[in-house]
Amino acid sequence: MISPMIWQGNKLKILDQRNIPLSMDYIFCTTCREVEEHIYNLAIRGAPAIGAAAAFGMVLGARELRDFSGNKFETLFRKKALAMLKARPTAVNLSWAVSRMLKEFESLKEKNTGDIIKGLEEEALTIYHEDIEINKKIGQFGASLVSKGAFILTHCNAGALATAGYGTALGIVRKAVEQEKEIHVYVDETRPVLQGARLTAWELEQEEIPYTLITDNMAGMLMQKGNIDLVVVGADRIALNGDTANKIGTYSLAVLAKYHGVPFYVAAPFSTFDLNIKTGEEIPIEERDCREVTHIFNQRISPDGCHVFNPSFDVTPAGLISAIITEKGVIENPRENNISTFFNKMKS
Ligand code: MRU
Repeated sequence: MISPMIWQGNKLKILDQRNIPLSMDYIFCTTCREVEEHIYNLAIRGAPAIGAAAAFGMVLGARELRDFSGNKFETLFRKKALAMLKARPTAVNLSWAVSRMLKEFESLKEKNTGDIIKGLEEEALTIYHEDIEINKKIGQFGASLVSKGAFILTHCNAGALATAGYGTALGIVRKAVEQEKEIHVYVDETRPVLQGARLTAWELEQEEIPYTLITDNMAGMLMQKGNIDLVVVGADRIALNGDTANKIGTYSLAVLAKYHGVPFYVAAPFSTFDLNIKTGEEIPIEERDCREVTHIFNQRISPDGCHVFNPSFDVTPAGLISAIITEKGVIENPRENNISTFFNKMKS
């Protein structure tokens, strides 16, 4: 199975996604800071993958502190956690994973440093393995919404590379293929960083899943011609009212889908919900380097000195989303009431 990271006990091996499909290079991280840097520079990206990598980064951070104990260990460990949180602001899975590691630390902190490190490593591995299982469940629920012969449009990469493995939106595609649904995937190239053209197309190519690559401005025409049966995307953060942040361009697709009566689905694990924020207006939107827009593969494509706006994500209002597909089931018409009812039902 394609996996963007492999834990090797004393280091994290990361598949460098910046160069796929041109080359398959691995990066070996031995410090918490290195993991942070590679989350920031997109060597590893995608909300659940960022969360799992951050958890392993925290284990590396704890290992760096192996000569300390007690308060000193705790102060330095928490400092590393704070730095990790700043790597990328929009995907809530990052703070979710860091909080989970800190909670685990709280339960271990009376033990000796060796046992604390061991306990943290077990927790990071649990986060990693759980994510793969969660994605398979999302795939199962999502595939039930896909009819035989469907043409599915996706944006960015919400595949194995964006998770611990299997993928959320592409997990649904994988499951539908396993069920012999004879689907076809339209892949938005996803400017500026081209996660669709480089990563989603690569994943589908690896598994011989039929697909067609399009530039982002072609989706409207395909919908107008009746060539898209459904849209499925991943998510970086979902507010209590269902507003969803995902890769820039997702909102435009959702508007197009609404206009053309095409179902628009979001596939995401529970860890992507941020029930502390009421609406999408509160979601922090990362703005990235203007070079991502002015250059492609280090080649300048626009005049030197031109002014650039480069938000990495946008927020799709809940009213444009037909359903959110989670590992516990499908939330139809995801509005505040339906989301709260769903979460309460899952708790009981
Ligand atoms: O900037 P990226 O590549 O990290 O953005 C990724 C996305 O927007 C994905 O759609 C999202 O994280 C969901 S991944 C399962």
